Amino acid sequence: MIDTITMKWKDWTLHLIDQRKLPLEEIYVPCKNYEEVAQAIKKMIVRGAPAIGATAAFGYALGAKEMASGASSWNDFVEKMKVVRETLANTRPTAVNLFWALERMEKVMKNFGRLDGIVERLEKEAVNIAQEDIEINKAIGRNGAKLIKDGMTVLTHCNTGSLATVDYGTALGVIRTAHEQGKKIRVFADETRPYLQGARLTAWELLKYGIEDSYVISDNMAGWMMKKGEVDMVIVGADRVVANGDVANKIGTYSLAVLANRHNIPFYVALPTSTIDLSLKSGDEIPIEERNPDEVTHCGGKRIAPEGIKVKNPAFDVTEHELVSAIITEKGVIYPPYEENIRKILGK
Ligand code: MRU
Repeated sequence: MIDTITMKWKDWTLHLIDQRKLPLEEIYVPCKNYEEVAQAIKKMIVRGAPAIGATAAFGYALGAKEMASGASSWNDFVEKMKVVRETLANTRPTAVNLFWALERMEKVMKNFGRLDGIVERLEKEAVNIAQEDIEINKAIGRNGAKLIKDGMTVLTHCNTGSLATVDYGTALGVIRTAHEQGKKIRVFADETRPYLQGARLTAWELLKYGIEDSYVISDNMAGWMMKKGEVDMVIVGADRVVANGDVANKIGTYSLAVLANRHNIPFYVALPTSTIDLSLKSGDEIPIEERNPDEVTHCGGKRIAPEGIKVKNPAFDVTEHELVSAIITEKGVIYPPYEENIRKILGK
């Protein structure tokens, strides 16, 4: 079964660590049906592209259990499962792993073709997705750590660690691997306003893994640190990478890429290949989630901006592929030209 910091799957209940409460409280929220799972994704109890994907897969399995018990036939069940898929899909629009996982689950369901045993088969597939994610992240870590030399300072953004995945992490997984290999590295973690994934979650993980020379910096400090020669590389995760190599990731990623380019610092993106969406040609086509204005006007539950002010709160931005030095995946490191090399590594 699955038992990690991020999620525990036991007796048909998905227990998710409430990432809204970290680092102050470590509480698990039990989700017993697909609607609760959808709410957990929407409310960001769970977040991070690969974690959202695996969570949705468990939601799909929970939905199947509920729908199978009331289905009069296979066709009736398949029809009912459309509601489950829609409910889970209508939670967060940007991370493609959500849609990737739902598609994989639906394909397994359709291939299975009969009611008897379908619930168990879908549970197995959700567990497979979660287990594979851990192995994939470790492979990303091994591939990416080769780029980190002893003594380097690495700057990262948002949270891309265990909490953003089923376990281990992508960009933070690369940093972890380098650390586990005994390389002495220094880490700058952007606080990542407005939701503070860096200050709250990445900082919590860095302490947990004993990466001692770690610092939280506010987002607007990154450029100055680069100018002073204090940053050797930037490594971030991704919510969606499209056919030409453009990258959607947490808001602020684009600014970092521009700054890295200005200072001749390599800018790496680490992700599982399930984050690659070949159906979109360029980053302009990626849907960008707009979130609640309160996340900007409030900090730690306290109002910091005056009542009545208008707010913009895009949760993600898009970095053009020209600004990306390389894309680190479980299958290897992809260098430009991306259009060609992404397809090559995927065999498509
Ligand atoms: O809004 P979030 O916290 O779900 O956004 C997370 C990110 O942008 C991560 O960088 C991305 O999902 C990669 S996580 C391995």
